[in-house]
Amino acid sequence: MKILVTGGLGFIGSHTVLELLANGHEVLIADNLSNSKIEVLDKIENISGQKPKFFQIDVTEKAPTQEIFAKEKIEGLIHFAGLKAVGESVEIPLKYYYNNLLSTINLAELCLQYGVGKFVFSSSATVYGEQPSPFREEMPLLPTTNPYGETKAMSERILTDAARVNRGFNVILLRYFNPIGAHPSGLIGEDPNGIPNNLMPYVARVASGKLPFLSIFGDDYETSDGTGVRDYIHVVDLAQGHVKAIESEKTGLNIYNLGTGQGTSVLELVNAFIAANKIDVPYKIVERRPGDIAISFADASKAKAELGWQTKLDLIDMVKSSWNFEKRQKSEVH
Ligand code: NAD
Ligand code: UD1
Repeated sequence: MKILVTGGLGFIGSHTVLELLANGHEVLIADNLSNSKIEVLDKIENISGQKPKFFQIDVTEKAPTQEIFAKEKIEGLIHFAGLKAVGESVEIPLKYYYNNLLSTINLAELCLQYGVGKFVFSSSATVYGEQPSPFREEMPLLPTTNPYGETKAMSERILTDAARVNRGFNVILLRYFNPIGAHPSGLIGEDPNGIPNNLMPYVARVASGKLPFLSIFGDDYETSDGTGVRDYIHVVDLAQGHVKAIESEKTGLNIYNLGTGQGTSVLELVNAFIAANKIDVPYKIVERRPGDIAISFADASKAKAELGWQTKLDLIDMVKSSWNFEKRQKSEVH
């Protein structure tokens, strides 16, 4: 298939591009580089031996986006492009609503106009709010605690409504749990600008000495060791889930959790990182982070039954590949 990947130079997008290429698909990438670097395109070429056609455009802008649809016979779209920093979304909500909603609306309209029948969307487990885990796809969307989460719930509703009235416009909403890890080559991975908000990149930077210690946000949750529990998923497994989704024959609207189905606490993840990589990660227990929930993990059985997808990589693969990537970042910097 000829597939347009928006946000294809970002963390999850770049790994997905590699899996699509490995499965024989033709890939086009649209990215405005607002949170990625053009070098990722060369790294994709180094790893795969193929260089996807690249368009440096903002997909909230209709005209340049339409040009791609008009020129290329796209058969499927995977829409990763979006802003994702939860804290920043509270500070500058309009930027988040504008970017994340306009991009989705533009792309859906263009798919309808040009007869692109497959739209795969990057959603998040955050849309489940504070319901008890395991989260199942039929649970209601609950209000989230931040504008970022709202943009995911709203995008889901927009695409759901569009799929309902447009036969042949087949939408798959993928709700990611906590993607971590990196490509086995160590060439691509998660490299956030500034101080990371998410746990895994923070741990990696403490291990490399770029940050002094990890703050663990609370050890008084109702969990086995008191720290928060999440469903960490290797980004390569997550990427393969997208290949299954875009290749799926399912019609209409379909929703899948992409997670392992297993919860891991902050302390378990940190200790796994220390043990597997034989490196210290100093940490301190501090106050809970506002907006955090105690436990979030997936019921991943629907993706297995309907897409034939399940995770293959475990926590050790995740922490080792994250460290492998981080070490290379260090050697590139110095
Ligand atoms: P990322 O920031 O690494 O990648 C997003 C990419 O989109 C970047 O390369 C950025 O430059 C690009 N982009 C942003 N706005 C754009 C626009 N208007 N036009 C063109 N390009 C644009 O993020 P990621 O971690 O790879 O996440 C990909 C998607 O998955 C996002 O929609 C995110 O909200 C969603 N998601 C991520 C996580 C996670 O933990 N990483 C969890 C759930 C959902
Ligand atoms: C966060 C977002 C979520 C988003 C996801 C992916 C919040 C409230 N939620 O999820 O909307 O979809 O990122 O981008 O921000 N932790 C620490 N110390 C740290 C960082 C994190 O102890 O320095 C803990 C957290 O309290 C949590 C776990 O580690 O228990 C995972 O945190 P994080 O990686 O930020 O992901 P989520 O909070 O699950």
